[in-house]
Amino acid sequence: MKNEKGPVFAPTRREMLIGSGKLAAGAAVVGVGASAFINNANATSGPKPTPWGYVKLDPAKVAQSAYDNWYKHYCCYAVAEAIIAPLREKVGGPYQNLPVEAFIFGHGGTVGFGTLCGTLMGAGVATSFALGRKDGEAVLRDMMAYYSEADMPIFKPNNPKAQIKNTNISESPLCHISVGKWMKKEGVALKSAERKDRCARVAADIAYQTVVLMNKVADGTYEGETGSPSAEYGITAQENCTECHGDNVPEPLMPKA
Ligand code: HEC
Repeated sequence: MKNEKGPVFAPTRREMLIGSGKLAAGAAVVGVGASAFINNANATSGPKPTPWGYVKLDPAKVAQSAYDNWYKHYCCYAVAEAIIAPLREKVGGPYQNLPVEAFIFGHGGTVGFGTLCGTLMGAGVATSFALGRKDGEAVLRDMMAYYSEADMPIFKPNNPKAQIKNTNISESPLCHISVGKWMKKEGVALKSAERKDRCARVAADIAYQTVVLMNKVADGTYEGETGSPSAEYGITAQENCTECHGDNVPEPLMPKA
């Protein structure tokens, strides 16, 4: 479907409701129920259900913006805002009222605890609002796998704030493991300019690839490749079992057949 700002991937709930209201009016079945329905669609209170819609974005532009954003409020904000800011402009509506600053807390794997890399949480924020739960989670599962397997950082900033030598494959979506392996390889401390720039570049990489996948969803050509590890292993987990458990990976209890 189209509006004056270009093709909009998902119709807003309001458009859908108004659309069906019109249909009902055309069929001359407007009664108390139908008018209440239309009034309801015009109601301004209450949260706006997702998906809020998506238009295809330029992955390279979003990547540079994520890199720049990192230096404002770190990783989670960097990715979420890089994707949501252009949607605020091109799709508008509820995006106008979404303060992405509320997701700054994802920094350092959630307030410095080294759990999920904030770039992935930021990606999840963006995919959930834009694509809704089903497609949003499918893209995020692919991004969790991508993050663990990609040799990052890949992105070359226009205006690098530091020069870095090493890239690394984290084999994990955890901030602690990902940043830890890279810091060891590069031989730098957490507070170094190099480490900061590495994380800013990783934010760019994750924003870039997330937009590549979201664009495929918008084109109708997306096929998610990554299943849920909890369904596969019988415990919520990342794939690198042996890295933490050594050779003795415990067998989770499975439901009785
Ligand atoms: C980031 C490190 C890490 C990764 C990766 C990881 N685990 Fe664990 N896992 C742990 C820790 C720590 C515990 C708690 C161990 C304990 O208390 O004995 C645990 C507990 C478990 C338990 C329940 C406790 C037990 O001993 O039965 C199971 C089952 C398990 N892990 C299986 C897996 C499987 C399968 C994978 C890969 C799909 C995996 N884990 C990946 C760290 C990890």
